[in-house]
Amino acid sequence: MKRINYNTNLPEEVISVPGMISENERKFLFKYALELYTGKGKIVDLGCWLGATTIALADGLQKMGNIFGSKKLIYAYELFKWD
Ligand SMILES: C[S@@+](CC[C@H](N)C(=O)[O-])C[C@H]1O[C@@H](n2cnc3c(N)ncnc32)[C@H](O)[C@@H]1O
Repeated sequence: MKRINYNTNLPEEVISVPGMISENERKFLFKYALELYTGKGKIVDLGCWLGATTIALADGLQKMGNIFGSKKLIYAYELFKWD
């Protein structure tokens, strides 16, 4: 199994998006998209709110480059309903 070093400096665009997730969660998502994602299946962000999770994934995918032969999509959904 591939080991990932999560001790990384996140790009400013990943840190600056307001969100409910921690810096470590952003690092995990960024590194997942950058180093672990194989291109199989779809990436679905269920509950993206302002996009902190989405941007972390998207930035990792973008920095990894277009190794899948086509642009990968992130399917992001949000209720936008505050109870
Ligand atoms: C922990 S918060 C999201 C944090 C967000 N991903 C971020 O990066 O800050 C969970 C979100 O899931 C949304 N949510 C809950 N149930 C949902 C559903 N059935 N479909 C879409 N979004 C949903 C909520 O509205 C809420 O914004």
